[in-house]
Amino acid sequence: MEEAVFIDGVRTPNGRAHKEKGWFRNIRPDEMLSVVYEAIFNRNNKVKPEDLDGVLVGCANLSGMQNDIGRLAWLASGLPVSVGTNSITNQCPSGMMATMHAARAIMTGQADIMLAAGVEDMEKVPMGANMNFPPRILKYWNGADLPMGPTAEKVAEVYKIAREDMDNMAIWSNKKASEAHKAGKFKNEIIPLKGLDDNGNEMMVEKDQWVRDKTDPEKMKAMQSSFKPGGVVTAATSSPLTQGACALLLMSRKKADELGLEYHYKFNYAVMAGCDPTVMGIGPIPAVQKLFKRTGLTPADIGPIELNEAFASQSLACIRELKIDNENAPFKRVNVWGGALAIGHPLGQSGARILVTLLNILKTDYPNEKYGMAALCGAFGNAGAMLVEKVK
Ligand SMILES: CC(C)(COP(=O)(O)OP(=O)(O)OC[C@H]1O[C@@H](n2cnc3c(N)ncnc32)[C@H](O)[C@@H]1OP(=O)(O)O)[C@@H](O)C(=O)NCCC(=O)NCCS
Repeated sequence: MEEAVFIDGVRTPNGRAHKEKGWFRNIRPDEMLSVVYEAIFNRNNKVKPEDLDGVLVGCANLSGMQNDIGRLAWLASGLPVSVGTNSITNQCPSGMMATMHAARAIMTGQADIMLAAGVEDMEKVPMGANMNFPPRILKYWNGADLPMGPTAEKVAEVYKIAREDMDNMAIWSNKKASEAHKAGKFKNEIIPLKGLDDNGNEMMVEKDQWVRDKTDPEKMKAMQSSFKPGGVVTAATSSPLTQGACALLLMSRKKADELGLEYHYKFNYAVMAGCDPTVMGIGPIPAVQKLFKRTGLTPADIGPIELNEAFASQSLACIRELKIDNENAPFKRVNVWGGALAIGHPLGQSGARILVTLLNILKTDYPNEKYGMAALCGAFGNAGAMLVEKVK
């Protein structure tokens, strides 16, 4: 087997998916994807776009402006037609799946250089837009239980997650993300991008729009559930609707050495898993359990962990069931630079984004750790987990 090493990873800042308030309301999702495509080649000038063996792009909703977005953004960037692209989806884990498939193509010797990416604009292509559910699904599931919010409420109920624990998690997620931004920790991954302020004036954006430097616990406590009368999941304890793109450059170790490129981490193992769609947020539990079983590792072997915060309820349920950290925030090694509750969760982008952030966390904060892990849930019970390893 070849080794698949990570050469680089970049992302846009995440903007709020809002017609009037979103910093990137004037930018299309394909343009965001072009930004990260171009940044990868600008930052790695020994790699020629025409030498790529393939481009895999995860996106949850491949319709409208996002229809075959991987290919169309590639062509719209003037990149070589000879390179094959593949836009793929399995909802939120899509960006992780793109990376996993790219790494496996390299490991089996069928590719030398691959680009894996993720993108989503939840304002221009809203969640569920153009969805047409198979009526037969209603034989098995109640349609009202399948949207994301109700699944987060159900997880809170089944796993007995207290409202105050969720609010506390959101406070810490914002605090950690704000501190990480202030300390410049995201500088290696974020490509600054021109956006618009509230008045429509151009401004250079270097930071994720939703991250709150200060949270107001009293205001959060007073917020009503967004999804159910008397429910417990609010806008503060849900990942916000966002827009963003992310890309990772992967290469066989042999090719990277040939080109004289620097690398620090490689792909080790990844799994897909599934769960009951009405509690889709617990997907990381079977995914991480499978990953541990297959690799023989235990939580004690892992350094930092990126666990996507789709909702505070599902993250807390996963952390507790998997016993990978404290029962409550602040966490010791999960999402140490904050999570999606603050950074945002542009669906198909997040699986790639948490990997890029994980690689930066490992390099800067955990240089002696051998392993880092990322995991996330997805709509309708999709889930993924990936292990990355320090290169000797
Ligand atoms: C929860 C949800 C419905 C809320 O959407 P919304 O009603 O449009 O609300 P917003 O996100 O705009 O937030 C509402 C208000 O609460 C405020 N708010 C949000 N978090 C807050 C916090 N931590 N503290 C204080 N105020 C907060 C917002 O700032 C906003 O006020 P503003 O417009 O004055 O700025 C939406 O974010 C959502 O659906 N999230 C989940 C997405 C999802 O399912 N992803 C897939 C997961 S698998």
